[in-house]
Amino acid sequence: MRYFGAVRGTMRYASTDIVYRDVLFPAGTFVAIGLAEANRDGNVFVAPQDFDITVQKSDQPQLTFGSGIHYCLGQALARAELQEALPLLARRMPHLCLDGPTQWKPDGVGIFGPAHMPITFDPGH
Ligand code: HEM
Repeated sequence: MRYFGAVRGTMRYASTDIVYRDVLFPAGTFVAIGLAEANRDGNVFVAPQDFDITVQKSDQPQLTFGSGIHYCLGQALARAELQEALPLLARRMPHLCLDGPTQWKPDGVGIFGPAHMPITFDPGH
């Protein structure tokens, strides 16, 4: 979730003048927010460029599901789906491996992920 979130960024519109940490965002400004970049912030995360699923990350804030009043309404469902799907995937598709280069969707606002990902696997049960 933190390392490679599906929503890379979002936008906000300043409907009035807003000062945040001494920076003025005048009314009418569009602000692009890099959720993916924030999730690799070395001031927040230990070894932010490492992917290690054995490390307990729950004490570290991540912005994969956004923040504030627009925090993802489906985050509990998304987490539950992944908790169900990933063990099933491991059972049904053992030795799942990449079988060529992955092509990624454009990295911007919107849903991010592979556009093309060749794989091999053994038949599971
Ligand atoms: C891994 C899967 C998902 C990710 C990474 C994700 C990410 C996000 C993010 C970052 C936002 C905040 C956008 C913003 O502040 O501009 C958001 C909002 C939202 N998400 Fe998700 N989401 C996921 C799955 C889902 C699912 C499964 C549902 C519904 C079944 C859902 C429904 C919503 C809704 C309704 C909002 C808008 C909330 C609001 O504006 O108040 N999301 N999501």
